[in-house]
Amino acid sequence: MEGWSDLAACLEVQRAVWGDDPRELVPPIVLEATLRAGGLLGGAFGEDGRLLGFVYGMPAVRDGRLAHWSHLLAVRPETRRSHLGLALKQWQRERLLSAGVDRAYWSYDPLLAGNAHLNLTVLGARVVEHVEDMYGDEIRGTAGSDRFVVEWSLDAADTPTTTAPACVVGPEDGPLPGGPAVGVAIPSDFGALASPFLSFVIESSG
Ligand SMILES: CC(C)(COP(=O)(O)OP(=O)(O)OC[C@H]1O[C@@H](n2cnc3c(N)ncnc32)[C@H](O)[C@@H]1OP(=O)(O)O)[C@@H](O)C(=O)NCCC(=O)NCCS
Repeated sequence: MEGWSDLAACLEVQRAVWGDDPRELVPPIVLEATLRAGGLLGGAFGEDGRLLGFVYGMPAVRDGRLAHWSHLLAVRPETRRSHLGLALKQWQRERLLSAGVDRAYWSYDPLLAGNAHLNLTVLGARVVEHVEDMYGDEIRGTAGSDRFVVEWSLDAADTPTTTAPACVVGPEDGPLPGGPAVGVAIPSDFGALASPFLSFVIESSG
C-alpha cells in the first residue's frame, strides 16, 4: 500500500463492507498514524488497480510480549470466496514473522459461522477470550457486540490440527464446563435468522 490514495481506498472498501456508520470506520489519518507506529496494512488489487480488500493491524503487547492486533480484514462483497482473504492473512503472517512477531490476535463475532470457519478451521487460530459487549452499543447489531478474541500462532504448522471438543454447549446450557476445550453451538447462518427479526423490530417500533 502506498500513499494517501490507497488509504482513502481502504475507507471506500470499509464502506462497501460495513456501511457508512462513522463509528465503525477507521479513517485514513488513523491508518497513516498506525503505519508510522509499526502497524501493518496490506491490500489486494484488481488488474485495473482497484482495491478489492485489505488487512490492517497494529502493534500490541499481550502477556508482556510483543504481538500484533489485527483490527480489520475486509474483501469487497463481489470478490469474495476467491481466496483473497486467505492471501491477505498469509501475507500478514509472513510480514509479521519476518519482523520477529510470532503471534497475532483479533476479535470476531462468535455468531458468524463463516468467520469462525475461516479463523479457526482454515487459519488454525484458537479462541482465548470471550469479551462481553466489546463495543457496547457503539456498533450496529442484532445481538449485542460480544466477541471472541483469537490467538494465531504464526510459526505453527500450515495445516491446523483441530481437536474435537469433549463437549458442546448451546444457548440453553448453564455456565461453561471446565476442560481444555469446549465447543460452542452457533446458528449455521445467523444472517438469515437476524434479518426477519430486524424487520419485525423496525415495523413494530413506529
Ligand atoms: C471474511 C472475509 C474477509 C473472507 O474473505 P474471502 O476473500 O471471501 O475469503 P477466502 O475466499 O480467502 O476464503 C478462504 C477460506 O475461508 C473460508 N470462508 C471464507 N468466508 C467464508 C464464509 N462466509 N463461510 C464459510 N467459509 C468461509 C472458506 O473455507 C474459504 O476457502 P474455500 O472457499 O476454498 O472453502 C470476507 O468474507 C469479508 O470481508 N467479510 C466481511 C468482513 C468481516 O467479517 N471481516 C472479519 C473477518 S474475521
